[in-house]
Amino acid sequence: MCGIVGYIGNKQALPILVQGLRDLEYRGYDSAGICLLHENKIERVRAVGKIDNLVGKLKDSNYPGTLGIAHTRWATHGGVTEENAHPHVAMDGKLAIVHNGIIENYRELKKKLVKKGYKFTSDTDSEVLAHLIADYYSTLPQPLPSQPSHEASAGTAREGNSSPLRGEDKGGGENTLANAVRRALSDVRGTYGLLAVHADHPDQIIAARLGSPLVVGVAEGEHYIASDVTPMLAYTKQVTFLDDGEVAEISRDNLRISNLKDELITKGTMQIDWDQAKAQKGGYEHFMLKEIMEQPTVFEDAIRGRLDMEEGTAHLGGLNISEDQLRDLKRINIISGGTAYYAGLVGKYAFERLAQVPCEVDFSSEFRYRDPIVDKKTLVYAVSQSGETADTIMAVREAKRKGAHVRGIINVVGSTIARETKAGSYIHAGLEMAVASTKAYTNMVALLLLNALQLGRLKHVNVATGKRFLESLLEIPGKMNEILKQAENIKKIAKKYAHYKNMFFLGRGVNYPVALEGSLKLKEISYIHSEGYAGGEMKHGPLALVSEDFPVVAILTRNQLFEKMKSNIMEARARGARTLIIASEDDEEAKEVADDIIFVPKTMELLEPLLNTIPLQLFAYYIAVNLGRDVDRPRNLAKSVTVE
Ligand code: AGP
Repeated sequence: MCGIVGYIGNKQALPILVQGLRDLEYRGYDSAGICLLHENKIERVRAVGKIDNLVGKLKDSNYPGTLGIAHTRWATHGGVTEENAHPHVAMDGKLAIVHNGIIENYRELKKKLVKKGYKFTSDTDSEVLAHLIADYYSTLPQPLPSQPSHEASAGTAREGNSSPLRGEDKGGGENTLANAVRRALSDVRGTYGLLAVHADHPDQIIAARLGSPLVVGVAEGEHYIASDVTPMLAYTKQVTFLDDGEVAEISRDNLRISNLKDELITKGTMQIDWDQAKAQKGGYEHFMLKEIMEQPTVFEDAIRGRLDMEEGTAHLGGLNISEDQLRDLKRINIISGGTAYYAGLVGKYAFERLAQVPCEVDFSSEFRYRDPIVDKKTLVYAVSQSGETADTIMAVREAKRKGAHVRGIINVVGSTIARETKAGSYIHAGLEMAVASTKAYTNMVALLLLNALQLGRLKHVNVATGKRFLESLLEIPGKMNEILKQAENIKKIAKKYAHYKNMFFLGRGVNYPVALEGSLKLKEISYIHSEGYAGGEMKHGPLALVSEDFPVVAILTRNQLFEKMKSNIMEARARGARTLIIASEDDEEAKEVADDIIFVPKTMELLEPLLNTIPLQLFAYYIAVNLGRDVDRPRNLAKSVTVE
């Protein structure tokens, strides 16, 4: 995810902003930039790659200024280039913005602005905001440019929970920069964490938030603004978190918060007692838990702007294949590794059920060496969080060599697989720091489901079915939250299983991949041996392993395979196995075969992996924590396997 830092006060802004960017490095980025406002002039410096590259560019000149904004970019739209790096500027460099989020309707806004003569220099969605604000700024009444105000205001009202308003409330009406931001954001669909500055307003930063966090640090005669508290902890622990729909007018001694209609909002400040390390994990003990908890939010990012509720289908950009070619497909192959492979297995069920196209899922490391039968009537999906997995890169090249259409389902924008497939969908899971993949898995499944729906609607799926599918998809974030609220209960259950040396994970149908993924989560972070198995397969051999020392975790949600799965669980229990059951909420019958039970909300069968995997992620996480494992950096493993 992008990182935002802003400062306005009486100190030199540059060192504060650079350190702030370094404090946000953990969020992941591929370029960075800074703007400083001094004597009614804005200086901008940007660089691709690490922050040291940016610092290298800065060191030759002294950039004075006690007001500035800065940004680390995690590319979502547009490649990794200096032109795409933030801040973006408008009005001949007099107005600058930094943005975190996704502007869904940027194309239509950009078209209108280009028609008005605005010149774009990047291919990002964010740059639209700079010109849109400039457009409104140019048309709103112009007050006299305000002079820098350094005198302390009459008293401060910041202590405790009183409103942080200080000095007189200038009111948004006179202030065109704030109003221009409000008017521009009223045209926007999507998400933003935004900072805007203007050379004619050397005493204020405008901040706005919808969907991407922003927090304001309050100190004497100065304010710090950032995507999270990490960059401000060295200076202040008194903060105000902006909420969705809020706009903050931030000067050295005044913090005025309102909504897009310029209705004043009174907010207090709060005391942060985190240290820096804890702040980077959002207050969670590990990145893995933070990322598990982020799933409802990043799932919304994955589907945002891609659902066509009217036609009951999905709109997926990055097409390199016509609709007729899609209809003529004879086969789909999914190539991936590890968790991405298990997401791919869910995709298999979706493509075959919705699009009725044969779908094979391969470990990338096997695909290349098995003489795969692929040709121009084959569509190959390369699924990869990092986009750098060597096995998958080589498999992509093999598929292309044989003439297949290749699409990526990727998290990291501009990664090798994204570039080599040239087409596909980004999953918008944001940076995934923990080696054990969780939120990326969920978003990979989401994108595979959308691809399957899109193809299905070109063939046999009718609009009513498509609409029902999308309506169920929209309910997923709320249902995920219902499961995440059970974390403490799952932690208690996990404690009872942490001493076992072996474990089975069983599932059937679309929950078979869920069992495999749950097993992988456990083994890779707790080091307990576990196996994921198709429930119906146990009697063909593995049942010999089952005993009271070999517990079984089974997914027994209400679907067409409920009775058969229940029998498989009873076979294991008859041989002494302790059973942890993932069941549909309020299912009393499931309790009959459970020593421990976790209930999940009901949903359409194809969507169950989006929910049923979450309790298994938490189960594995709490067992690993209980065993004192290095959860985010488990032994022997790397986040991205860039060797074959
Ligand atoms: C999953 O928790 C592991 N980190 C690993 O299996 C991972 O999914 C696999 O290496 C594939 O990585 P990719 O998605 O970046 O290609």
